[in-house]
Amino acid sequence: MEDQQVSTMEKTEFLYEGKAKKIYRTPDPGLYLVEYKDDATAFDGLKKGTIAGKGVVNNLVSAHLFQLLERHGVPTHFVELVSDREMVVRAVRIIALEIVVRNITAGSLAKRLGLEEGLVLDQPVVETYYKSDELHDPLINNDHIRLLNLAAPEEVEAMRAAALVVNEVLKEYLAGRGIDLVDFKLEFGRTLDDGRLVLADEISPDTCRLWDRDTKKKLDKDRFRRDLGGVEEAYAEIMRRLIR
Ligand code: C5P
Repeated sequence: MEDQQVSTMEKTEFLYEGKAKKIYRTPDPGLYLVEYKDDATAFDGLKKGTIAGKGVVNNLVSAHLFQLLERHGVPTHFVELVSDREMVVRAVRIIALEIVVRNITAGSLAKRLGLEEGLVLDQPVVETYYKSDELHDPLINNDHIRLLNLAAPEEVEAMRAAALVVNEVLKEYLAGRGIDLVDFKLEFGRTLDDGRLVLADEISPDTCRLWDRDTKKKLDKDRFRRDLGGVEEAYAEIMRRLIR
């Protein structure tokens, strides 16, 4: 935790409530405050629940990983921690794309391509999904991104390249803590003040599949999605291994 500063930045106006976070304006128009909730959803919001302590884990783990990535040259929206559940971030307009990177088969990849889970891939697979609850986040390609005008081709390339750097940095970091990085989802945004493309949203057991290297035990949101039990314990275990 030594690298996480804590600020006194106050929230002014409530801006937006997502499934797992609330966003507030701050006195500085270039900064937002993000509050992480314990609410959990899966399957497009069909499954709802609470994971006690999840907001704290996801806030602190995201802060920790954003700072790690910044040190490796990946620009992120992270500015500073405010409390166990709150961080200040650069104000961004989120690009309606989810960039997924996969190292091991699982989830929708295994299902879509008829593969068993747990196959280690020779090289990472990068996918783009259209962030739309109404359409259930469909998998889309570069032509669809152009058709929908979601991002410029150079931005798509920049997001893809950044996602691969994120993968290398996180894979190595997590391996050092006995964790296999199976797959993860990233979101990017353009800063309100100067339009810079930065990594945004969160990086947490909600958005990554994390398996114990030795036992292959799932230490992520799949425990909630698949009713595997031990959800809170898995989130706490990730925090314990990452933040020392
Ligand atoms: O479900 P799927 O296999 O496509 O998920 C790939 C990765 O992206 C998983 O780590 C999952 O947690 C993450 N994801 C996410 N938010 C979504 C969809 C997937 O964080 N809306």
